[in-house]
Formats: sequence, C-alpha cells, structure tokens
Amino acid sequence: MPPYVFFNRDFIPLAEARIGIMTHALHYGTACFEGIRGSQNEDERQVYLFRLKDHYLRLLQSCQIMKITLPYGVDELCQLTEKLVQLSGYQEDIYIRPLAYKSSQAIGVRLHDLEDDLLIYVATLPAYLDTDKGVSCCISTWRRIGDNMIPPRAKITGLYVNSALAKTEAVESGLDEGIMLTHDGHVSEGSGENSFLVTQGRLVTPSASDNILLGITRDSRFVLCQDTGGAIKGAGRVDFFAGHGPKARGFAFKLWESGKLYLLILKFQDGGRI
Ligand SMILES: Cc1ncc(COP(=O)(O)O)c(C=O)c1O
Repeated sequence: MPPYVFFNRDFIPLAEARIGIMTHALHYGTACFEGIRGSQNEDERQVYLFRLKDHYLRLLQSCQIMKITLPYGVDELCQLTEKLVQLSGYQEDIYIRPLAYKSSQAIGVRLHDLEDDLLIYVATLPAYLDTDKGVSCCISTWRRIGDNMIPPRAKITGLYVNSALAKTEAVESGLDEGIMLTHDGHVSEGSGENSFLVTQGRLVTPSASDNILLGITRDSRFVLCQDTGGAIKGAGRVDFFAGHGPKARGFAFKLWESGKLYLLILKFQDGGRI
C-alpha cells in the first residue's frame, strides 16, 4: 500500500502531494505543526495515538496566533487523522505530523490576506534522544526566544530555527542536546523537549513564563505524579543551578515512547558550558 497523506482536503498518495515553490510558509516560516506519537500494541494489533485531541487543541491555539483558519474543528481533525492512520496501515510505532500553513503563492512578509491549508502525513521516527545510551547536553549559547518575539508556546515552524541553532551547536560540539536559557538566564527547554530537574525528592520544571512549549508530555507528568501521590512542584522560574554542586546537576527529560514513560537523567560535561 503506498503511503497516503492528507493534502488539499483529500487523502492522496504521498508521491502525488506537491506544493509550489512560492508557497508563503516555505519562505517565511508561517506555519504551525504538531508531532503526535502512535504506539503499536502488539497484542491488540492496533495503534494507540497519544493524547490526540490535546495535540489538536494546541494546534488550533497555534493557528490562532498565526492567523491560520482551518475549516476543521478538533473532532474532525482527530477523525481525519484516525482515517489516515488506517489508510497508512503501519504495523509499528508511528509519528504523525499535521502542518497548518500559509499556502498562498505570494511574496510579502505578513500573516493577513493569505490562504491557509492543512496537510498531515504519517511516518516512522526513532526517539528524538537515544534513551538507551544516555544523553549528554550543554547549556546552549543560544537564548530561548521570548514570548513577545515569537510565542514559544505555539509550535510555529519559523520559531524552530531557534531550536535548530541550539541542537546543531550541541551536536557539532560532540553532545546530544543543548538546553536554552531565557534572556534573563533561567532554564527554558531543550531543542525539542521540556526539561525537568530532580532535586531533593522533587521534580521541578520551568513554568510557562520561561518561554517553553507547554508540552503535553510535561502535562502528563504532572497528572501521573498527582495520581501516584508523588511529589511534584510546578515551580515558577526555576534556577536549576541554585544550591547544587556540579556533581549534583542533572536534568530529567521525560519522553513517551511506545506507551512507556522514560525518565532521563542528564549529566553536564565539564561544568555544563561549551
Ligand atoms: C521545543 C519543544 N519543547 C517541548 C516539546 C515536548 O512537547 P510534547 O510533550 O507536547 O510532545 C517539544 C515537542 O515537540 C518541543 O518541540
């Protein structure tokens, strides 16, 4: 079965989905997206999509900021996605990428007076960070972009240049990930994941005001900790370094993969700076 995508309001084979070279979003980063994991359950032979509705609620919020109007509500978006997953017929863990974008073939920096469109595709994708071998990271020299510049709580494609700069800086320095600080020096997040610190039996994490994406996994962590009576502190501006010697420093990145929650403890190299 050829891979199918949702494109131009229709389900078509991937090979037939093409966008024009003048597409506004391609030139100006005027699009927003989601990354939705689906876990294959071997026993039941079906794929479970992780918090699908919440992902689409966030997409619609991003669209509002980007002045993108989609002809679909949350329920329709979920139904379209479920149908696409069925059509795609993957028998393994999957990754779903919806992209809402400014589709006009037009030159000119703006958000208004442009056409909008939506595409969705399904792919396989390994874990963003290798949880088996552990993750090395640094504090990035790139600062997290501010809420009044491009709001990081929206998954806007153009904003991800900020993440890409931090990620490549880290990788080219021989590390796996760069953690960005806010302009005033508070820990924000990694290039593609929220950050947590385990300290004195508590799990603390930066707040919305620290220019983070309000991660759905992050939210699940809050829910799980409350469910199990665990101690979690949704701290405001968390200084991850206060009161800890270099050896005590560690970040916990949590990732959902295959329906399991992984907690990664990251140790900093040589004092944590590059
Ligand atoms: C910058 C950034 N922060 C955090 C996350 C984690 O978000 P979620 O848990 O909703 O997947 C992502 C995921 O794509 C991200 O790109």
